[in-house]
Amino acid sequence: MERQFWIDSWDEGGSKTSFHLPEVHPHARYLVDGGLLDGARVLVPLCGKSLDMPAFARRAREVVGVELVESAVAQFLADNAIDPVRTEPGVFRAGNLTVLVRDFFDLTAADLGSVDVVYDRACLVAFPEPMRERYAAHLTGLLPAGARYFLNTLEYAPVMDTPPFSVGPDAVRGYFGDAFDIEHVFDDDRPDHRMVAKFGLESLREHGFLLHRR
Ligand SMILES: C[S@@+](CC[C@H](N)C(=O)[O-])C[C@H]1O[C@@H](n2cnc3c(N)ncnc32)[C@H](O)[C@@H]1O
Repeated sequence: MERQFWIDSWDEGGSKTSFHLPEVHPHARYLVDGGLLDGARVLVPLCGKSLDMPAFARRAREVVGVELVESAVAQFLADNAIDPVRTEPGVFRAGNLTVLVRDFFDLTAADLGSVDVVYDRACLVAFPEPMRERYAAHLTGLLPAGARYFLNTLEYAPVMDTPPFSVGPDAVRGYFGDAFDIEHVFDDDRPDHRMVAKFGLESLREHGFLLHRR
């Protein structure tokens, strides 16, 4: 989706930002508890005001969130009582956690520095084609060999023409199979997911993939 869609969503709040979870996502917990973040530099693209970031910061060496909409970052800082140092416009640092107010597509590998782990929840699926293809290519280009990329997706029927878009294992292999080894670590039937009742879906699966940059 284009920038204005997200700016309007954060301005309106409520159901427009219902992607925000009031707790740490179980897939984020899996990364924390599995030790994958220990000593790691972690990138959280399209971070919103996700509570996964403070959970990561307790284990990782450094966490870098990237978010387009400044008001989302302001809410994140207020909700978590974080008083950041603002070293330059759009850069908020507190301890080992940094949030950049940036368009992810403008971020270069040189800006970002080295990354060990990426956590993607509601990012790839936030974009329609062809932006999804562009996001996948841009993220791939930011990562050095050896980096891990945890990717959460939703796959549901009937498909909808609004975020989160349905993305299943075949599509993930299509976007990332050339550059990553892909392990499919979660494949959960989720009839209880809030989207099922909200949109009258027939089925919804929640996937988690752990990708390893070749
Ligand atoms: C569906 S939300 C997911 C937020 C977060 N990952 C979570 O789990 O709550 C997508 C987020 O990406 C942000 N966003 C959209 N396009 C972006 C871009 N080009 N660069 C950076 N952030 C972007 C939106 O403002 C929104 O906060």
